[in-house]
Amino acid sequence: MKFFVDSADINEIKKAKKLGLADGVTTNPTLIMKSGRDFKKTVLEITDSIEGPVAVEPVSKDFKGIMEEGEKYASWAENVTVKIPITTPGLQAVKELNNQGISTTVTLIFSPTQSILAAKAGAEYICPFVGRLDDISSPGMDLISEIVTIFDNYPDLTTEIIVASIRNPLHILDSALMGADGVTIPYGVMEKLVKHPLTDIGIDKFLKDWEKVKS
Ligand code: E4P
Repeated sequence: MKFFVDSADINEIKKAKKLGLADGVTTNPTLIMKSGRDFKKTVLEITDSIEGPVAVEPVSKDFKGIMEEGEKYASWAENVTVKIPITTPGLQAVKELNNQGISTTVTLIFSPTQSILAAKAGAEYICPFVGRLDDISSPGMDLISEIVTIFDNYPDLTTEIIVASIRNPLHILDSALMGADGVTIPYGVMEKLVKHPLTDIGIDKFLKDWEKVKS
């Protein structure tokens, strides 16, 4: 199961890497804005710091603009995957970039049929968003369950499912149980995954007992 870091903060990405939890990175315009740093420098720092794919998102909405941005970002580093929102021109760009051997990630997936289109266009990864569906009272993980079933039904659809818009550890547990290829996780949620109250209680008890052995 792949763990991507959903962040453009190089410090968070380095911390996740030290834990073996940085198989890739997803950025988006909001995360770049939050980093408060120069776009290209930020992307290059991330692509240099990890070996896996780094998703970089064009902001153009038309085919020509998406292509120009996508080709430019792909030229910055070998491990860039161009992250394209699912639209008609977006899918055309995915197909064309795929023909050129450039990796793509199709993002803002909210329906199972969108995932089929992205896979058929040749996306290497898709990012279905679960948290934003939960936010409007539509169970996000139902989307993942349906996409996993569809991709299992058609083994020629080799696109990897990277569950996105993750808000809590249960999204990761459910993704694992459903067999998603990976998850992209904000660093704060990674930290929550480590914690369990019984672990803390257990450590305290071992230390107290150890004190008795020493005296
Ligand atoms: C990742 O690819 C997405 O851009 C990200 O997970 C969106 O998360 P959000 O819905 O919390 O903004």
